[in-house]
Amino acid sequence: MRNNGIIARYRAHMPVSDDTRIISLNEGSTPLVPALALSAAIHPRLEIHLKYEGLNPTGSFKDRGMTMAITKAVEDKFEVVMCASTGNTSASAAAYSARAGIKCAVLIPEGKIAFGKLSQAMIHGATVIQVKGNFDDALNLVRKICHDYPVALVNSVNPYRIEGQKSGAFEIIDDFDGVAPDFQAMPVGNAGNITAYWKGYKEYHACGKSDALPRMLGFQAAGSAPIVLGHPVEKPQTFATAIRIGNPASWKQAVAARDESGGLIDMVTDDEIREAYKMLASSEGVFCEPASASSVAGLIKLSGQGFFDAVQPRTGDKIRVVCILTGHGLKDPDNAIACAEEPVTVEAREEAILEVLGYSVPAFV
Ligand code: F0G
Repeated sequence: MRNNGIIARYRAHMPVSDDTRIISLNEGSTPLVPALALSAAIHPRLEIHLKYEGLNPTGSFKDRGMTMAITKAVEDKFEVVMCASTGNTSASAAAYSARAGIKCAVLIPEGKIAFGKLSQAMIHGATVIQVKGNFDDALNLVRKICHDYPVALVNSVNPYRIEGQKSGAFEIIDDFDGVAPDFQAMPVGNAGNITAYWKGYKEYHACGKSDALPRMLGFQAAGSAPIVLGHPVEKPQTFATAIRIGNPASWKQAVAARDESGGLIDMVTDDEIREAYKMLASSEGVFCEPASASSVAGLIKLSGQGFFDAVQPRTGDKIRVVCILTGHGLKDPDNAIACAEEPVTVEAREEAILEVLGYSVPAFV
């Protein structure tokens, strides 16, 4: 069946009417990729699946929320939308605003967003404002301006964003024919996405479309781990710039998702994230951005602590885990190049290539 986007696919669960003009780029319906090599490397009883959100139209999960937020902004007659962003929200807001024919302004922390994301916001024609501060400072400014002026706020504190993003949970359950995974692992930044997934799982379960609820595993970067530490982090740090957030707006909802589901929120170091990032690309062929890899880094950490040894799978003999790979690796080419081996440069001669490949070069050439 043709994919017409998440509002069309899950219309009964979305706040739209017959008159609503839907602004969509046919987002969602992303692949759930089994990760056999990764599962075997992490724990013999794990069955890991990767929800590859990088394959959304602007390359991240934000499109699920943005289709809903921009649709409602247009319905509510807003002509300008605004967001603070570590990059992906700005890319998505810019694209959906362009499609809707409305203005978009994005506030980003100066010098701290990945190049691909910046290029997206710029080419879609958003007003891009770099703030000499971090994401948290930018979000405070956006909240104030949207309160005082007729500007729609499209960060995940906008409830329509959550409504759209909960569709990720529906897709996972649908792909597993109504059987919930044992665990879901995901990065946590501003904490909108963990809020949205948990809402989606609960909604699907309540209407009988899912047999159970998964336990939610959230991971923050160690230098930006306010929820784990129990207090805001004034100067958050991490190379995974997407989750470089010191005071998450949906903090309470994230804690509720963790506690209601019997899950946990932990932190992973930049080195652990880097390792998982490289592993996903080299052993599974899946290129995600660094923040996304924190979900896999978290599983590696938990497995090393014996966390999964005592877990009983609900069905079958494997513990089924879905990792949400929130953004595409091409968003952040600088980090990919910095983490990988440099290409070699040779003369344009066959024997030079053969030498690099380790094939013996015949003596007469
Ligand atoms: N992964 C990626 C790739 C992200 O861009 C974000 C958030 C997250 C994970 C965390 O999701 O904030 O809902 O907990 N990016 C936001 C942005 C903050 O501005 O693009 P969250």
